[in-house]
Amino acid sequence: MWKANPITSRLRVKWPIIQAGMAGGTTTPELVAAVSSAGGLGTLGAGYLSAERIRLAIREIRQRTDQPFGVNLFIPEKFDGESQVSAPVSAAMNEMREKLGIPADWKVTRFAEPFEEQMAAVVEERVPVFSFTFGLLEQRWLSVLKQQGTTVIGTATTVREAVALEASGVDMITAQGSEAGGHRGSFLPDSPSNLVGTMALVPQIVDRVRIPVIAAGGIMDGRGIAAAFALGAQGVQLGTAFLACVESGAHPLHKQALREASDEATVLTRAFSGKAARGIENDFMIHLAPHENELPPYPVQNALTRDIRSAAAKQNRPEYLCLWAGQAAALSRDVSAGELVSRLVVETERVCRSLRWGE
Ligand SMILES: Cc1cc2nc3c(=O)[nH]c(=O)nc-3n(C[C@H](O)[C@H](O)[C@H](O)COP(=O)(O)O)c2cc1C
Repeated sequence: MWKANPITSRLRVKWPIIQAGMAGGTTTPELVAAVSSAGGLGTLGAGYLSAERIRLAIREIRQRTDQPFGVNLFIPEKFDGESQVSAPVSAAMNEMREKLGIPADWKVTRFAEPFEEQMAAVVEERVPVFSFTFGLLEQRWLSVLKQQGTTVIGTATTVREAVALEASGVDMITAQGSEAGGHRGSFLPDSPSNLVGTMALVPQIVDRVRIPVIAAGGIMDGRGIAAAFALGAQGVQLGTAFLACVESGAHPLHKQALREASDEATVLTRAFSGKAARGIENDFMIHLAPHENELPPYPVQNALTRDIRSAAAKQNRPEYLCLWAGQAAALSRDVSAGELVSRLVVETERVCRSLRWGE
């Protein structure tokens, strides 16, 4: 059954439809609560939030809904904040600053929010579901979360990563295909360049692990959901589809770009953050594309481009915004999150009926 399975019973949701945690202000408490209230699982993308802002957002979600929800964080990576950016990269970024009328050579004071503090907030708030990306969660955090009954979900982009996540003790795995919008969750050496698509990835992971698998990447409607279940997934995670919703905090020009996107609109880039991510191609990506191999890794490049992205948002300049989107962005719908969840359910049932499943 697509709607009553180990994922719905473990997450205590009506529908196995998860709204992806999307860091960067998209997953407002309003969006998260609307998805959870509609019977799906809303997720707060907290990767860029301080511990204090995570606590406040969780409290606001709880004021808006009594249904389960999730919080999503980034597994931190070691980085060298002192490393010198090459002169051509620095010049290319300053050219964009000049076009935006902001000072050259921006000085970064904070590269990433302290993960220990973020995790402490998640644990203290006893969230129902915790999901993460970019790595494996340390055992000490896994055991605390499990002791208090939090369901833990890790992200894999290859079978090797899924096997490593299962061995680490997570409860479920999100299988993220290369169609997916936003950052790739890849964490094992060599995997970022192996772009396994959702259709190929999901059944291979399902065959190799015993825990439930959630499909992500390019799923926008009931056809995608039914396909994911046919491949053996027991849940789906949608990012881009919820990005376009009324309650999402995405910049209005980002939402407009989704509406105007075609199947060929997105590319993978390291330009914004130093980590491979999929978004709608714009001048920012094109300008830094010749320097793709010289860019500092995440989170350094992410911090170095922050001033450009925030000036672009304030000045309504989509050519310098990061317009994360999956390959199926053109199928996004400009509706409320509750309406989207209802439509997804009706559509999935229609597809299942048309395929005569269950007969
Ligand atoms: C704007 C945006 C931000 C994202 N941020 C995160 C994040 O903070 N954490 C995470 O695990 N995944 C993040 N993702 C990836 C999603 O979890 C998911 O894999 C992806 O959206 C699925 O593909 P789709 O966009 O085609 O639905 C993000 C995706 C988008 C579009």
